[in-house]
This record gives sequence, C-alpha cells and structure tokens, in this order.
Amino acid sequence: MPQGPAISTISSMADVWDAYRDEIDGVEHQVRKNLDSSVTLVNTVAAHILSSGGKRVRPLLLLLSARLCGYVGREHHQLGSLVEFIHTATLLHDDVVDDADIRRGRQTARKVWGNQISILVGDYLYSKAMALVVEFRSQGINEVLAEACTKMAEGEVLQLYYNGNPSMPESDYVKIVEHKTAGLIAAACRMGAILAEASEEKQTALFRFGQYIGIAFQVADDTLDYNADGERLGKTLGQDLRQGKATLPLLHLLAHCGEEDRSMIKDRMETRTLNEGDLARILALMRDCGSLTYAMEQARTYIAAAKHELEAFEDSTARRALTVAADYMITRDR
Ligand code: IPE
Ligand code: IPE
Ligand code: MG
Ligand code: MG
Repeated sequence: MPQGPAISTISSMADVWDAYRDEIDGVEHQVRKNLDSSVTLVNTVAAHILSSGGKRVRPLLLLLSARLCGYVGREHHQLGSLVEFIHTATLLHDDVVDDADIRRGRQTARKVWGNQISILVGDYLYSKAMALVVEFRSQGINEVLAEACTKMAEGEVLQLYYNGNPSMPESDYVKIVEHKTAGLIAAACRMGAILAEASEEKQTALFRFGQYIGIAFQVADDTLDYNADGERLGKTLGQDLRQGKATLPLLHLLAHCGEEDRSMIKDRMETRTLNEGDLARILALMRDCGSLTYAMEQARTYIAAAKHELEAFEDSTARRALTVAADYMITRDR
C-alpha cells in the first residue's frame, strides 16, 4: 500500500490536487499517448480541447475511489484517461447541440473547424475509449462504462425533448441531470472500486456517491451559467436560456415570479434570443426570488447524501480527499 500524504494535510481542494499531482500527471501522460490517430486532423482537433485546461474531475474521482479501496497498481491512469476521452467526446457533441462558441476560455472546436468535424472527432474519442477499455478484460468495467454512455445519450435526448418548454417538471430536470452528467461521474467512481476489486457493497456506495455529487455538480453548473465570472468560467453566460434550456434556477424563477416577467422569460426561451439586459434582469429576479439559493440548497442536499455514502469506508487520505472533492463540486467557480 503506497504511503501517500499524511491524512491531516488534506483540507482544501488545492491540497487534493497537490497530494495527487503525480497521479493526475499519470493520467495526462496516458491522454497524450492515446491520441495517436494516423489521421492528423483527428489529433489536432482532439488536442485543441484536451489541452485547453479541463479540470480533470472525473479521472481524479476514479483514482481517489481506487485508492480508497486499497488499489496499489497504476492501471487507473489509463482508465482515468479513457473516462476523460469520453467526457471530452460529450463536450464536442454538446457544444454542437448548444451552439457554443467558447469553452475553457477558447473557441470551441465547432467554431474553429465546424460542426461536422466536432461531431466526428467526438465519435472518434468515444470509439477510441471503448477500444482501449476492452483491453482491461473486465466485464464489470465494460458494463459500467457502456451503461454510462447509453444514459448520457438518453439524457441529452430528453433534454432536447424539453427544449423551449418552460413547464418541464422538476423531476424530469433531475432525470436529465442524472443521465447526462451524474452517470459518467458515478461510473468513474465505481470503476475505481472495480479496479481495486472492492466488495459489491463498496462499489455500490461509491457509485451512489458519484451519482449524488454528479447531480449536484450539474445543478451548480446550471447556476454558474447565470451567476459566474464569465472569464473565469470560460463559457458564455446565459447560454442555457438562450438555447431554450430550462434548468433548476430558471424553473424555480418561473414558478415564483410575476406574470409579466414569466412571459418575458418564455418569450426569450421560445425565440432563443437573450441580450445582456435580459440576462441582468433575470439574474436580479433570481436573486429576489431566491432561485439561485434554492438551486444551491438542493445541490448541498445531494452533497450531504454523497458524504453519507463515504461512511462505509475507514478514515484515510483518499476518503478525506473525496470529502473535499465532494464540496468542491458545488463551490467551484469554473
Ligand atoms: C462540463 O464539465 C460539462 C458538465 C457536465 C457541466 P466540466 O465542468 O467537468 O468541464 P471541464 O472538463 O472541467 O472543462
Ligand atoms: C452538460 O451540460 C453536458 C454534458 C454532460 C455533456 P451543459 O450543456 O450545461 O454543459 P456546459 O455548460 O456546456 O459545459
Ligand atoms: Mg453545453
Ligand atoms: Mg452548463
């Protein structure tokens, strides 16, 4: 069992990144190594997004989950890189669906090379990840990853089904978020446990942990879409409403604001138009109605449920790091 850093040194996310820097570097090494297409354009487009400063949250969760379950090998670097490939594929597709021009503070691949290339390189990254994951010869890992990918596609389709519709039930919002975002995060956590050959109970606890923090992560993302420093976030603010997407803070606002404001919001959703003035007005309304507070309260409830799952494990550096990472999922500003 590797010694790792002393338990007491982990109290902030900076401590977590510091303590696991070598592990994250191991993932980065695999990411670069796996980008080996003989079609140069594939590597160029994939590298454009892969080297643009993603947080690498999913690989981090995978390797912490593996270490939590006593894993001593190095295979989790490769598995983490494959999860990041899949995440990157979803972003390449998502930016086409969402008409996004900026991600991680730079032009999206679709803006530079066009929608078609963005979709096809996304397909490549999905397929490459699947081709490499089978080399683990683990039925459990294959099943978990395949299920997560299926769920992501379903979540995106359900989201599109509700596009432009301000009357989506909150339960369907949660279903979308659970599918499109939490599924992969939960899978990353479970795969770490599978790699460590942890018991079914521990695998399930980590899967649930991932699901809860994953839902909270997306709720926070949906709040940041209205209420962040755009430069720091590296994305265009207001993009969700501008694309006809009703998210938790907006659903809350629609249920609590006056009729005139409600029709203004519905109009912007339907016409897919939203200028700076509209966004400022909606943000002020959200503050007045407590919509951002409401969304973040919901997110905090999921984080508390997630931390409860960690009680199945003894105290360790990895458990503390996962606890800190859980808080980070909703306190992040990018
Ligand atoms: C963005 O995910 C997509 C969502 C699920 C909200 P991240 O916020 O993890 O994106 P990067 O990889 O750090 O840019
Ligand atoms: C997350 O939804 C998308 C995926 C899970 C692929 P968003 O559309 O909110 O993600 P961002 O805000 O563009 O990163
Ligand atoms: Mg998007
Ligand atoms: Mg978003």
